[in-house]
Amino acid sequence: MNLINQHALVCGGSKGIGKAIAIGLAQLGASVTIAARNAELLENIIHTLPRISNEQKHQFLIIDFEQTEDVRKKIHLLTLSHPVDILINNTGGPASGLIQNAAIEEFTKAFSQHLICNHLISQICIPYMKERNHGRIINIISTSVKQPLDNLGVSNTVRAAVANWAKTLANEIGEYNITVNNVLPGATRTERLEALIQKESTAKNKSISDIESEMKKSIPLRRFAEPKEIANAVCFLASPLASYITGINLPVDGGRTKSL
Ligand SMILES: NC(=O)c1ccc[n+]([C@@H]2O[C@H](COP(=O)([O-])OP(=O)(O)OC[C@H]3O[C@@H](n4cnc5c(N)ncnc54)[C@H](OP(=O)(O)O)[C@@H]3O)[C@@H](O)[C@H]2O)c1
Repeated sequence: MNLINQHALVCGGSKGIGKAIAIGLAQLGASVTIAARNAELLENIIHTLPRISNEQKHQFLIIDFEQTEDVRKKIHLLTLSHPVDILINNTGGPASGLIQNAAIEEFTKAFSQHLICNHLISQICIPYMKERNHGRIINIISTSVKQPLDNLGVSNTVRAAVANWAKTLANEIGEYNITVNNVLPGATRTERLEALIQKESTAKNKSISDIESEMKKSIPLRRFAEPKEIANAVCFLASPLASYITGINLPVDGGRTKSL
């Protein structure tokens, strides 16, 4: 697997799964741009990203995926000087909660941050990918695409929309040798997972270790994923080894999803 001379844009690349993806792609030789809100964190990570060739130049973009007009302007500017070969659509997950209690604003916010942003960014990147007759779009979604998760009502709803958007796009742009795939992480050790467990522990008045044990029982591999394990799947899909794979949902969940 070799990604030298390729530019990867990793959205949400400053923490958790996105950060692990940025490291993985840089290890394969890609020049990586990480995008998120916290400037200090982004700057620190840029200096730690691996370099295996002198061609590699890593950079960061301060961006808020809730501000769609700003996203459009900043990604457009980035691609003028650094067209994107590998796009990783990823951002923070929607808040947890029962769907019956969800406010309308929660749906519109999540829809905008996930689906609209993915769409806007892809639309800006695709013309260059078409010119080069090569491109990779990989969306980090969730296993809830296949099986809704309890207490993640808004997330379950919006994830399904993102998955169908991606499949439709894969059908349209395959002829330009651009692949579009979805990676569906299971429970992965990141700040988001810690926050969800903490909330569950408070709501159920149970210890964090009890909540974790209950969650692990539902996973055939009996453990949470490390972010790097999700990143490994993404790196494979971004690489030439995955040249004939498009339009799929790939769960990386230790077997937790009950359906095929
Ligand atoms: N961890 C899991 O167990 C798990 C399981 C299934 C699905 N997922 C999904 O996978 C995705 C990544 O999860 P994660 O666990 O890696 O999350 P995380 O640790 O919370 O990291 C989220 C990343 O996105 C950035 N981000 C969040 N909101 C943003 C915004 N409005 N604008 C720009 N950047 C933003 C964060 O940086 P800043 O805060 O600095 O902006 C950070 O870099 C999420 O959609 C999550 O729901 C995670």
